[in-house]
Amino acid sequence: MSKNAVIFGATSGIGKELAKLLVNDGYTVVITGRRTQKLKEIKDTSPEKYITIEHDVTDLDSSDQVFQQLREQFSQIDLIVYSSGMAEPNYDLEWKKELPSLETNVLGAVKIYGLAYNLFRAQGYGHLVGISSVAGIRGNRHVPAYFASKAFQNNYLESLWMKAQRSKAKIYVTDIAPGFVDTKMALGDTFGMASLEKATQQIYKAIQKKKKKAYITKRWRGIAFIMRMLPAWWIIRFA
Ligand SMILES: NC(=O)c1ccc[n+]([C@@H]2O[C@H](COP(=O)([O-])OP(=O)(O)OC[C@H]3O[C@@H](n4cnc5c(N)ncnc54)[C@H](OP(=O)(O)O)[C@@H]3O)[C@@H](O)[C@H]2O)c1
Repeated sequence: MSKNAVIFGATSGIGKELAKLLVNDGYTVVITGRRTQKLKEIKDTSPEKYITIEHDVTDLDSSDQVFQQLREQFSQIDLIVYSSGMAEPNYDLEWKKELPSLETNVLGAVKIYGLAYNLFRAQGYGHLVGISSVAGIRGNRHVPAYFASKAFQNNYLESLWMKAQRSKAKIYVTDIAPGFVDTKMALGDTFGMASLEKATQQIYKAIQKKKKKAYITKRWRGIAFIMRMLPAWWIIRFA
């Protein structure tokens, strides 16, 4: 039987690239995002393998409707990936700049994580993947909401992983923590930037291995270790 996956935030970047790898591997993939035209362009590349749902994850009630639609359309869903993300530098701590990151990376994420987990519990199995970031490791004075929201995702996903360990259902939870990946979100040419293709291939391998946590690319595992040790004064000076 062919496998079914859903990717929240698949109109560009990591979500879009991962959807392509899954389709090449025989999955039917539901792709979501706000940009209808982007969804259509992706579907046109393989109309029978992509299903599109226009969806804004910050509209929390509509997430319930999306899952209702998924339950009606599919007898089983194997994989759900939350890749939607928002980041904006906020030097003056303007509330209107903080809010979209919190709505997308915290509230929107928790809503989808919970709906996905409960769907998997009901069907007896499934794999939830969250795309967080190495940004979750320490604070950052330029983009505080983004870094804090990614720390929230790290801990929430670990909580779900722990919950899954004690569940009768066969549920896997994977936290993918990328470093810099060459997408719109990386905000220009940054230290140690990985190509989208290389990063996404490593993400897919980590998903196939059902890892608890994966740093992308692999070198970020060591960098993450060092980042945890660095004194705050060093980060203030150099980051
Ligand atoms: N690129 C990096 O260097 C990097 C590093 C670490 C972590 N990450 C994480 O990787 C994930 C994917 O980012 P990316 O690099 O692939 O950037 P991207 O190309 O900008 O993709 C972001 C995706 O999020 C979706 N999205 C944003 N707001 C949304 C909303 N309100 N509702 C639904 N979807 C929404 C966008 O779709 P629409 O605009 O169509 O809604 C888009 O598909 C993010 O969670 C990001 O934090 C990226």
